[in-house]
Amino acid sequence: MRAGLGRPTAVKDLVMGERLLPATGSDYERVGGEPGLRRIFTDLLARMGADFVIGYLFAGRDVARIIEMEVSLAASHLGGPERYAGRSVARVHGPLRINRGHFRRRMAFLRTTLRDHGVDEDIIARWVAHDLRLEPAVTDGTDCAQEPA
Ligand code: HEM
Repeated sequence: MRAGLGRPTAVKDLVMGERLLPATGSDYERVGGEPGLRRIFTDLLARMGADFVIGYLFAGRDVARIIEMEVSLAASHLGGPERYAGRSVARVHGPLRINRGHFRRRMAFLRTTLRDHGVDEDIIARWVAHDLRLEPAVTDGTDCAQEPA
């Protein structure tokens, strides 16, 4: 301990609600851990399920399960303690015949949902980059419309 300063000041004490110093902790901690992820995915799944373009894909599905599996997948790539607990991403999405337009629509919903939940832009960039790498496993490789002949 340095003389005259008493207890060393924790970074979080200096921040006081406004980001004056670089953020600390893993991305997982910064998004609020498992409860934070559950809030984000509950919202994301509600937005996707209500959407006129991709909503039909979620009709009759076990949305509570999708949320929990998404939480575990995100926790694992954001530096949390959980391991992904779901089925292979390619096996789950293959039968759904998801095209690249569907995929981009999810990515747009993901970005706006993360922003609305106050997630910092550096985390959003890493999260989006992670999900983009999964595009070949999720989609059937086609786009939303054929090129006109
Ligand atoms: C990188 C992007 C994506 C990730 C990380 C992701 C993640 C997941 C996960 C973890 C599950 C649950 C797996 C399980 O039940 O074991 C799931 C299921 C599902 N996803 Fe995705 N997903 C992505 C893209 C999409 C897209 C673009 C759509 C549709 C537009 C979609 C629609 C669905 C549906 C309908 C299910 C339920 C399938 C079933 O119950 O058999 N997903 N997804």
